[in-house]
Formats: sequence, structure tokens, C-alpha cells
Amino acid sequence: MSNVNDVRKKVNQQMNGGLTVVLFGASGDLAKKKTFPALFRLFKNKLLPTSTVIIGYARSKLDHDGFVQRITENLSKEEDKKTVDDFVKICSYVSGQYDQDESFQHLQQVIGQSEDKRGMKQGQKNRIFYMALPPSVFLDVAKGCRRNVISPDDKSVNRVVIEKPFGKDLESCNELLSNLRVLFTENDTYRIDHYLGKEMVKNIIPYRFSNAFIHPLWNNIHIDSVQITLKEHFGTEGRGGYFDEFGIIRDVIQNHLLQTMSLVAMERPIGRGAEAIRDEKVKVLRCVKPIKIEDTLIGQYVANGDKPGYLDDDTVPKGSLCPTFAAMVLWIDNDRWDGVPFILKAGKALDKSKVEIRVQYKKVPGSLYGGVHRNETVMRIQPSEAIYTKFNNKSPGLTDHTMVTEMNLTYKDRFENLQIPDAYESLILDVMRSDHSNFVRDDELDAAWRIFTPVLHQLENEKIKPYPYKYGTRGPDKESEFVKKYGIEQLMTGYTWPKQDVEQQ
Ligand code: BG6
Repeated sequence: MSNVNDVRKKVNQQMNGGLTVVLFGASGDLAKKKTFPALFRLFKNKLLPTSTVIIGYARSKLDHDGFVQRITENLSKEEDKKTVDDFVKICSYVSGQYDQDESFQHLQQVIGQSEDKRGMKQGQKNRIFYMALPPSVFLDVAKGCRRNVISPDDKSVNRVVIEKPFGKDLESCNELLSNLRVLFTENDTYRIDHYLGKEMVKNIIPYRFSNAFIHPLWNNIHIDSVQITLKEHFGTEGRGGYFDEFGIIRDVIQNHLLQTMSLVAMERPIGRGAEAIRDEKVKVLRCVKPIKIEDTLIGQYVANGDKPGYLDDDTVPKGSLCPTFAAMVLWIDNDRWDGVPFILKAGKALDKSKVEIRVQYKKVPGSLYGGVHRNETVMRIQPSEAIYTKFNNKSPGLTDHTMVTEMNLTYKDRFENLQIPDAYESLILDVMRSDHSNFVRDDELDAAWRIFTPVLHQLENEKIKPYPYKYGTRGPDKESEFVKKYGIEQLMTGYTWPKQDVEQQ
């Protein structure tokens, strides 16, 4: 079992104490909101190699102050000023084009000078190229790096980190994969799906396989359905242009929710190493049948009071049929899951923000307690990580009634001084310590697109209209009817969760 000191040691060993991180897209939103804050926290917790330099790279012309403002804007106001200043000292900015060798040659010079100044020796000139970029420039940047910015010594590593979307369908994904493959090997490529860095998602494997009482129940004999839901209470305001090209299915279902599902459904891996885990994820994904249109419900939000509808955004094309909500039912064709619907649901501009996995068990057999509610286990990914199982219990006192109650592990109540790293923090750490377990392998992507491509094409070719739903509601009215078809039982009647922030389907 490793503690933080072991992790520090491992990172430093792997990188021989030297690293340059080049953050492409440094002036963009992702870098500002996620990547720089994550790098800051790693710095603060002394989890970066001893001699680390971070170079932001983007097309925008930014002076030093402008750059510093961007990288510190999203740090907590409570951060110690000295730590922030020290972090800023290891960061610098280079402005350049994404498709011109001269720009990359200049970058190479900057890195080289910094390595010389820091006295970096063989094996310390490690480089991580982090692409917080739109996919249209992935390839140019990867080529620019390969041709001009690769570490000069073969004892040092060159790793590339890529953010989704990895293509728009099976064909475009495979094209992207094969173009990138000639530039960086699979081993040097880290494809981020940041859901794999979330604490509760990382807990799925231990929860399932380290508990003797869970594993035997985890199959179609005992489980009736699995729902994985991602709700957001805000719309696409300000991101409409990007979003319209992808839609909710490509934005979060084909990746974040499917990745989560693969961990819920996979078989026991032969070990805890990255390839053992990814082998099992691919195997189960290959058993998932392509999604049928009749197993799909799509919606698009419309205005509600002062909240705008999706189409009211000026950056969204008039009359767009882009779904901002979808519920899709996936069927796994193997012994363990035959007949169990996996319902993946996601929506923008809904009534609340939460992400959870909801496993509903079968009814108890026979008539003894035939009328009681089913058991249900919820793994709440966010907000406020929790696992709780609803079970029936005799109501205390002079009664023989049963009531639904819960076995509850809410992290913030159970763990003192709870500190959960942000997903990006944990994933960047994994890149430095060469752990691919929480990154998406190329064959996983292929399997994932095979499941989604036919239905995505059908929705687009047949111009299927999404059902409207009002901003701030639970989604299209049709949703309850839709999930009922798959045997989902709402356990709300007669049941109240003791803490308001936790329950609610
Ligand atoms: C991103 C999507 O990948 O994930 C966004 O592009 C979505 O549309 C986000 O809001 C959700 O991530 P999180 O970590 O905020 O749940």
C-alpha cells in the first residue's frame, strides 16, 4: 500500500528528478480551469519531480502578467501566497503557431536553455506534451513535437497527453488513432477521460472485487438494472458552438459514462496492472451490442422563465437538432449481464447537478416479503462522494412493518480531514509515474465507437427531433415512461433520505 511519500519517491525515480511539461492550449479554458490548478496542487504537495518547469504554449500573444493572471485565476483564494509565487516561478509562456516548424523550433530552444540552466543530465530531459486543444489541431501539434521538440537523449521520455473528443465516429476516430500512432507509441500516449480520475470511479474496482459479499451478487441473477446518470443544472451557455458539433452523446455518454459502465460491468482482472484492467474493459465493451434507436431517447432544452433555451444561444445554428439530453439503453451479450439493461442518461440544464451509478436489485422471491421495495445500491460520484444501499428493515417499535432504510458510507461523514484530489491532479500524477490504468487504450476507443456510431448516424441522417424539456426540469416528460419500460422502479414513495443533499432519483 503506498502513501504520499512513496508516490513522491516513485514520481521522482521515474523522471530522474527532471521534467518539462509543455501545456499546449495554455490560454484556453481547460488549461485555466483544470490543468494549471491541477499542476499547482501537485506542486504544492511536492508531487512534481524535483526540477520541473511548466511551459504554457498557445497562439495568443500574452505578456508575463497576463499569463500569470490566467494560471492563478482559478486557484483557491485561500492558497498561501508564497506557494503561489513559487509555482509561478516554474511557469513560463511561449506564443507560437500550431502548424509551423519554426514555432516548435523556438519552443525547443526555450526548453533546451531551461534544461541547460537547470543542469539536466541524460535521463532528466523528460518531456510531457499536454494537449488541452481542440481535436482539429491535435495532429499538427503532435507532428510539430515529433519533428522538433523531442528530448535529445534516449534515456529521457517523451509523453503525449490528449483530451477527448477522439473523433466523431468510428471512422474519424480510427483515422486519428492511426495518424497519431506513427508519431507516438501507445505506451507514450495517455488519452484522458477525466472521469477515470474521479475518486468514486477509481473505487469501483476495489468495491466490486475486494468485498466478498458484493462480488457474488454482481450479475443478472440478482441485479435487475443499472443506471448511470450525469445531470448538470446549467446549459451550454457560452459553449454552444463547440457543443453543437458533438451533442450530449459524444460529449459525455460515449466516453465518461461508457468508461464508468465498463468498470461496473467488466470481469475480474487477472491483476491490478494497467493492461490487465484495460483488457477486461475492452472485453466487456466488445460484448455490448450497438445501441438501437428504440432504446434511445433524446431531448433538447427550451427556455424557462429567464433561463434561455438551447436554440437561443447565438453560437448555435438555427433549428439545430443537437440533443442536450439523452437516455440510452445498452445490452451486454455475455453470461453475467444477459437481460440486464444498462441505462446511460445525461443532460444539460436539468433540475440539479449530480453523477451517480444506481444498481437496482431484483425483487425478493416468494410472497413472504413480496411487497417490499427492491434493494438499491448507489455510488455517488459527485457531489459529495458516497455509497449507500437501501435495504428493508423492521420499523423499530411495536410494529411488524418493514421500512426502507440505508447502509450509508458518505465520505465526508466517515473520513476525517477528507481530501479528495481533483481528477486531473490524479491523472497527471499517473502520467508521470507511467501508470496507464486510468487512461483509455486505443482498442477501447474502437470498441466504444462501434457501440455508438450506428445510432449516432441514424439520428443525424433521419434528422430525428429531440423532445423539448424546460430548462431546470428533470428532462423530457417521456423519460419516466421510457425508463419504466426497462423495469426501473422509483423508490421514492414512502421513503425519505435523512439528509436532503444525498437522495433523490
Ligand atoms: C466534459 C464535457 O468532458 O465533462 C462537459 O465536455 C461536461 O460538457 C464535463 O460538463 C463534466 O465534467 P465534470 O467533471 O464537471 O462532471
